[in-house]
Amino acid sequence: MSVMHWSVSYYTGLPEVDRQHEALFGLVNRLYDARGHRAELLEQAFADLRDYVREHFSLEEALMAESGIDAGYIARHHAAHENFVMRVDELWNFHRAGSESAADELLGFLMAWLREHILHTDRKMALEIHARMGTEAPHNQFAHF
Ligand SMILES: [Fe+2]
Ligand SMILES: [Fe+2]
Repeated sequence: MSVMHWSVSYYTGLPEVDRQHEALFGLVNRLYDARGHRAELLEQAFADLRDYVREHFSLEEALMAESGIDAGYIARHHAAHENFVMRVDELWNFHRAGSESAADELLGFLMAWLREHILHTDRKMALEIHARMGTEAPHNQFAHF
């Protein structure tokens, strides 16, 4: 079952970022589906998502640095990424320690944070990158924040 659905409202116009966001949605759906199955399936789905998140955050931070975005902005965006990873790890550790609600809480947190972060923070980042790189922002991109 799909709990995260891709739509154009998440579009940043940065092809690799968009591709990775869509893949992240797919990994969250896989984690959702793995609940209630063998523990190894959930472990593997979580490990894959965790690795991909790291890779994705590195890409965004490299793009921000390359485009010459203000260092203070990059530091705040980086801190948001770090806080996310810390919370995800904390909830996963609760799950591993036997909490029955932690897996659901983790999924709820992942879905809400990713939607919010992409819609607001990443799209704003993309606008800044497009402005500095002289590239085109998608026309429907910033209709709302
Ligand atoms: Fe992102
Ligand atoms: Fe981000």
